[in-house]
Amino acid sequence: MNKAFYLETFGCQMNVVDSEQIVDLLEGIGYAQVDAADKADLVLLNTCSVRDKAERKVYGHLGRFKPIKDQKPELIIGVGGCVAQQEGEQMLEKVSYLDLVFGTHNIHRLPELVQQVEEKRQRGAVTNFLERETRLNLFPERTSKDSVTRFVTVMQGCDNFCSYCIVPHVRGREISRPSQDIIAEVTALVGEGACEITLLGQNVNSYGIKDADELTFAQLLHQVNSIAGLQRLRFATSHPKDLTDELIDCFADLDKLCQHIHLPLQSGSDRILKLMNRGYTASDYLKKVERLKKKCSQIRLTSDIIVGFPNETEKDFEATLDLVKQVGYADAFTFLYSPRVETAAAKMQDHQSGVQKQQRFERLLEVQHEISAAIWQKDDGQMLSVLVEGESKQAQGQLFGRTTSNRIVNFTGSSALIGQVVPVKIVKVHRNSHLGELVEP
Ligand code: SAH
Ligand code: SF4
Ligand code: F3S
Repeated sequence: MNKAFYLETFGCQMNVVDSEQIVDLLEGIGYAQVDAADKADLVLLNTCSVRDKAERKVYGHLGRFKPIKDQKPELIIGVGGCVAQQEGEQMLEKVSYLDLVFGTHNIHRLPELVQQVEEKRQRGAVTNFLERETRLNLFPERTSKDSVTRFVTVMQGCDNFCSYCIVPHVRGREISRPSQDIIAEVTALVGEGACEITLLGQNVNSYGIKDADELTFAQLLHQVNSIAGLQRLRFATSHPKDLTDELIDCFADLDKLCQHIHLPLQSGSDRILKLMNRGYTASDYLKKVERLKKKCSQIRLTSDIIVGFPNETEKDFEATLDLVKQVGYADAFTFLYSPRVETAAAKMQDHQSGVQKQQRFERLLEVQHEISAAIWQKDDGQMLSVLVEGESKQAQGQLFGRTTSNRIVNFTGSSALIGQVVPVKIVKVHRNSHLGELVEP
C-alpha cells in the first residue's frame, strides 16, 4: 500500500523550490502527497525563520499534529528549512513527538532519515553545512510539474550579512550554479510547457562574481532570453548595491524580460542603511531607479521595507517615507523589525517603544496604499498582455494570469488559453488584482 505524506511550506520562494525537491525525493521512496495531515503517515513542515513570528508559527503548527500522533503513534513528524537549520537537534529535545529535523543543506538526506524512523523508530537531526563542491552536485533534478510559470535556482545562500538578517546564517555562503546547468534546466522546463521562468536567488545580481570564468548575471539573462519557446523571463531578488548598468540595460534590450523589478530598499535613511550594512545610500538607490525608468519607461518597482530598526528616529523614518514617495512603488512589503539571534543588529541597544514602531508602520502602510492605488489605477481601461496561468479559484469560468508588471488579472475565457499571452482590457482595479475582459481578435 502507498504511504502518504503531507507537506506545508512557509517563507520565501527558495523554500517553495526546496519543497518541490522534497516531493520528488519522497515520491522516490514510495510516498504520495495528500492534502491533510490526518490522512498522512508522514507530515513535514518546511520552515522560515526570517522574523520571530514566522518562527513561532512552526511550534504552533507542530502542536496541531500532536493529537493526530496521539491517535496514530506511528505517524512520522519532521521539520526542514530555516528554523530546522537554526535549531537543529534542540528541536528534538523541545518537541517530544518530533521525529526528524533536516537543515537547508541536507534535503537530499531526507529519505534516509525517514527510513531510519520507519525501520528503527530512530529520531535524527542533520544540519551540517556542505562544501561548495558537494552542494553543486546536489542541485535538484526536478520532475516535470504541469505549470505555466516555473522557478529556477541560480544561486544559493547569501554573503551580504545585512545586520538584521538571519538568511546568511541559515542558508550558508553564496554559491552560484554553473550557467550551462541553468540554461539546460530552463530549456528542459520550456520543453515541458513552461512559458515563464523566474531566476531565483537571495541576491541574483551577484551571480557568478566569485567565479572568474562564469557569466555575469546580465550575460546569463541574455542567454536565457534567447531560449526558443520561452515567453517571459523574471528574476528575484535584486540587491540594489549589485544592480549594474549592464543589468539595468537588459530591461531595454531583452524582449522577454518582464517590466518589473523587486528592488528592496529597507530604509531611506543613510544612517540606518549604514547600520543595516546595506552598502548603498538613498541617493545611490535613486540614481539606479532613475536609470531603470529611463531604460524602461513602463517598469514597475516593488520593495521590502523595515520599520523600527534599532534606534530609528523620526527623521530616519521620514527619510524612508520620502524615498517611498519619490520612487513610487507599485507594491511594497513592509515589515516591523524583528531581532534575530546571531545577527549584528540583535546586539544593538534599542530605546524605541513598541507603540512608536507600530504607529510608524501604520503611517507607512497608509502612504504606500495610496501610491499603489494610484499606480494600478493607471491600468484602468488599458489593453494589457496577460500570460494566462490557470483557472481562477474564485469564480467559475474565470481565468487568471499576470501582466508583465506582475499584476494578477482575472477574466472570463476558455481554459484552452492557458499558457498563452492574450490581450485583456482592464475594466476594474481592485486592491490586489485587476478584473479584465478578453479582447477577441
Ligand atoms: N534576499 C532578499 C530578502 C530576504 S528576506 C533580499 O535581500 O532582498 C525578505 C525580507 O524580509 C527582507 O528584504 C527584509 O525586508 C525582511 N527582513 C529580513 N530580516 C528581517 C528582520 N529581522 N526583521 C524584519 N524584517 C526582516
Ligand atoms: Fe538577508 Fe541581506 Fe542577504 Fe537579503 S541580501 S538575504 S536581506 S543578508
Ligand atoms: Fe525565510 Fe529561509 Fe526564505 S528564513 S525568507 S525561508 S531563506
